[in-house]
Amino acid sequence: MSVFNREAENGVTRGTRAVIVHADQMKNGRDIDARLEETVGLAAAIGIDVQASQAFRMRSPRPSTLFGSGQVEKIRDLVEENQAELVIVDNSLTPVQQSNLEKATEAKVIDRTGLILEIFGERAATAEGRLQVELAHLDYQAGRLVRSWTHLERQRGGFGFLGGPGETQIEADRRMIRDRMAKLRRELDQVSRTRGLHRDRRKRAPWPVIALVGYTNAGKSTLFNRLTGADVMAEDLLFATLDPTMRQISLPGLDKAILSDTVGFVSDLPTQLIAAFRATLEEVVAADLIVHVRDISHPDSEAQRDDVLNVLEELGLGGEGASPMIEAWNKTDLLDAEEAAYVRETAARREDVSLISALDGVGVDGLRRVMSEKLTAGSQVRKLLLSSDDGASLAWLHANGEVLDSKVEDGQLRVTVRLTDMAHARFLARE
Ligand code: GTP
Repeated sequence: MSVFNREAENGVTRGTRAVIVHADQMKNGRDIDARLEETVGLAAAIGIDVQASQAFRMRSPRPSTLFGSGQVEKIRDLVEENQAELVIVDNSLTPVQQSNLEKATEAKVIDRTGLILEIFGERAATAEGRLQVELAHLDYQAGRLVRSWTHLERQRGGFGFLGGPGETQIEADRRMIRDRMAKLRRELDQVSRTRGLHRDRRKRAPWPVIALVGYTNAGKSTLFNRLTGADVMAEDLLFATLDPTMRQISLPGLDKAILSDTVGFVSDLPTQLIAAFRATLEEVVAADLIVHVRDISHPDSEAQRDDVLNVLEELGLGGEGASPMIEAWNKTDLLDAEEAAYVRETAARREDVSLISALDGVGVDGLRRVMSEKLTAGSQVRKLLLSSDDGASLAWLHANGEVLDSKVEDGQLRVTVRLTDMAHARFLARE
C-alpha cells in the first residue's frame, strides 16, 4: 500500500519500464555484477519492469550529472532502446544531478535512496512502520525541494519579484511539509509509547529474546519459519520483512524463548531510514542473543557482514555492552564441493558459527543447540542484597531468573536466585 500519494509524485508504479545504471567509482572492491543484481532485485520487489542494467566506471563523479557526458549519452540510448520511462541510478544523486539527468534522458530519474524509500513504503505493515517511512520520505523530499526552491528564489530576487505569489506558495508548501512532519512525529511518539508498554509487559515474562538480523535476502524469514513452524512471508523479494515479527519457540533445555525476525539490511542505507530501522530494531536492543544470518554463498558475503555490523554500530547496537551475537552461515546447499570444504574449515575454527541451510533444514538442530547454550551460559545461583522495599527488583528477578529464596534480614532483602551471566549483567545495568 502506498503511504501517501507517491505514485503521482514519482511516476513509479508497478510495471514501469526501467533501466538501472550504476556509477562504479572503483572505491570498494565489491562485485559490481552482484551489486547490480541486488538493485534489480530491489526494483523487482516493487514490481518495476527492469529492461536493462549497466555499470559505468569513472574516476571522479561530475557534479552536474554524476556520469561523464559520453556516459550520459549511452544512458539516453539505453532508455531509448528499451523504451524505458524510468532510470534508476544506483547511487546517491544530488537534486541538481537528478534534474539534469531527467532532462538529458527525457525519463523520470530516481536514485538508490528513492528506490529504497519506495520499497519501504510498500512493505511497511504496521502503523508505526508506515509513519516512519512517510516521515523519511518527506524528509528526503523536503531536502530536495528546499534546495531547488532556494535556487528559484535567488533568480526571482534578481528580477525584483521578491515576495511575489510564488514565494508565498513556497512558504505555504514548506509550512505544510513541516506541519505534516511534526504531526507524524507526535503520532509516532504515541505509537512507540504504546508499543513500549507491550514490550515491558513481555519483558517481565521470564523468556529470553532472540533477534535474527542479516543482510536482505540472507534467509532470515526462511530460518524464522523453520525455527517456529510459522508461515512468515519468505519470498525472493528484498525487504519482505519490514516490521519485526515475533513468535514463541522452544529450544533444547529451554522451555520458551521469543524469536524476532527483523528487517533486512542493505548497503548504502539512506540516512533517512536509519530512524525507521531504529524503531524496528528496538527488539534487537532488548535481545538476549542476536543471530546474524549470512548468505555464505554470496560473492559479497564479507562485505554484507560489514554492512550489517556498521548499521548495528550506527544504531548504537554494536561494541561494548551489546547483546552477544552468533552467526548462522546460511545457504550452504548452494556451495560447490570446494567452497563447502573451505567454509567448513573456516567455521570449525570459530565457536560462534553454525553452518545451516534454512531451506532444507540441514544444520538447524545444531544451531538450536548453540542458541540454547548461549542463552543458558553461566547460569548459577547468586545471592543478592536489595533494600527491603525494592519490590521492583524482586519482580524483575522473578521474571528473569529462578528465585530460590527471599527473606528480610536486618532491614535488607536477601535473595537467592539462579541467573545466567547475561541476566545478571542486565540486572546490574538496570537504571
Ligand atoms: P529480507 O526480508 O529481504 O530481509 O529477506 P530474508 O533475509 O528474510 O530472506 P528470505 O528468508 O525471504 O529468503 C530469501 C530467498 O533466499 C528466498 O528465495 C529463500 O527461499 C532463499 N533461501 C533462504 N534460505 C535458503 C537456503 O538455505 N538455501 C537456498 N538455496 N535458498 C535459501
